[in-house]
Amino acid sequence: MSLAGSREAATGPTGRRRLLHYEPPTGWLNDPNGLVHHDGEWHLCYQHHPASSDWGPMHWGHAVSTDLTTWTDLPIALHPDEHGAVYSGSGVVDRHGTAGFGEGALVAIYTQFTPTSQVQSIAGSVDRGRTWQVHDANPVLPQPAGLVDFRDPKVCWYDDGRGGGHWVMVLAAGGDARFYVSRDLVAWEPAGVFAPEPGRPYGVWETPDLFPLPVDGGDPWWVLSAGAAEHGPAGGSATRYWTGTFDGDAFVAYGSSRWADHGADFYAAQSWSDVPDGRRVWVAWMSNWAYAAHVPARAARGQMTLPRQLRLVAAGSGRPALAQRPVDELDARLGRPEVMTMGRGVALDHHAARVTVRSSGSGRAVVDVASGTGGARIVLDVGEATLSVRRTDGAGVGHQFAGTHVAPLARSGAVDIDVWIDHASIEVFADSGRVCVTDLVPDLAAGGRVVVTVTGEGDAELRTVAADDAP
Ligand code: FRU
Repeated sequence: MSLAGSREAATGPTGRRRLLHYEPPTGWLNDPNGLVHHDGEWHLCYQHHPASSDWGPMHWGHAVSTDLTTWTDLPIALHPDEHGAVYSGSGVVDRHGTAGFGEGALVAIYTQFTPTSQVQSIAGSVDRGRTWQVHDANPVLPQPAGLVDFRDPKVCWYDDGRGGGHWVMVLAAGGDARFYVSRDLVAWEPAGVFAPEPGRPYGVWETPDLFPLPVDGGDPWWVLSAGAAEHGPAGGSATRYWTGTFDGDAFVAYGSSRWADHGADFYAAQSWSDVPDGRRVWVAWMSNWAYAAHVPARAARGQMTLPRQLRLVAAGSGRPALAQRPVDELDARLGRPEVMTMGRGVALDHHAARVTVRSSGSGRAVVDVASGTGGARIVLDVGEATLSVRRTDGAGVGHQFAGTHVAPLARSGAVDIDVWIDHASIEVFADSGRVCVTDLVPDLAAGGRVVVTVTGEGDAELRTVAADDAP
């Protein structure tokens, strides 16, 4: 199929092609950092090495968006200093100016790393994040004796429901999460420890997040998520989460963890703070430490997933589960729905589209996304109650990149799948977002024209990214 005008997506001066996923103008990107909504803008900072497309001394790169789908790059927010490189962390609006930067200041809370230390620092901005001032008291939280890994602070305001509250910081501390509390973002006191399992079966923890979310629109539960450095469901690093309670000091999980995404490329997920419409929206680094350094680089290496809005839904074992879907704003980037004929391939000139399949009965629905060198095959097997994604490695990433990633579905019978295809990735949301599989597919960027074919029972619909909107 040809898009209106059939123009190629615009390429920037450095040859990059941004369609739906954020990628930096140059250099290296990993985790999302400092996510905060402020004065109409969604701030997206990220682990960034501006000097090369390899990981190196970390800075916070910075972009903003008013719609979560198109991004404006800003100057680097935070640079390494005498306390170390700038590792991952979070951002908040300090409405009452508790930290001393001023009322309504943006405050970034982050780890500073040297080969012998991991300490926590803060910086503030009173000009909508355009310039940042590091705090005189840095580091505000030293490393506890005997703890090697102590990083990635996520801070939120805990409202005690009685007109008061305090700041809460959750940190990845080896194979546990540790909580600290503060009145001013500067002086931090230790609070709870969440240590659900001995022996670090999934390697060190990284990039925790903590937030309340209503279950099926009713009473809230708390979600604690964390990166697992190893043994993810598709190998390597992945994101898992627990649901439970949080009393302002300590988190208590109800049962064991679940994977937030069964693909290989959903890591270091973080949610935005201070979102005015009450949505919980998160985004993740769309890569995996197992091979991130070997993914083909264009002008830059590394991209984010689509921003996703979250729900908690009732699920098995009496504990609610996350359901995710790309933010509603993305719909504005898509063209009119077109019915797809089963078995007939459709060429995507722009390599960005959303394919929705509503399966019927107990059969299979297959979505093939193929380029000249390879691609991905998505199989929804309603009888077996599985969703699987097989991807090729024509681009030569290595490190067991090619393979099949299988996710169990909570139910059998008719299920919907939503497949978002961009120039080098697919994100699949099944069963109204209860099951997600996110995979980089460099063949889609490397192998020329991309053809999508749906086979099986049910209905399929295609919506492409409108040519005029390609940035
Ligand atoms: C997670 C992580 C964090 C760390 C950052 C360094 O991907 O390893 O723990 O702060 O990346 O870039």
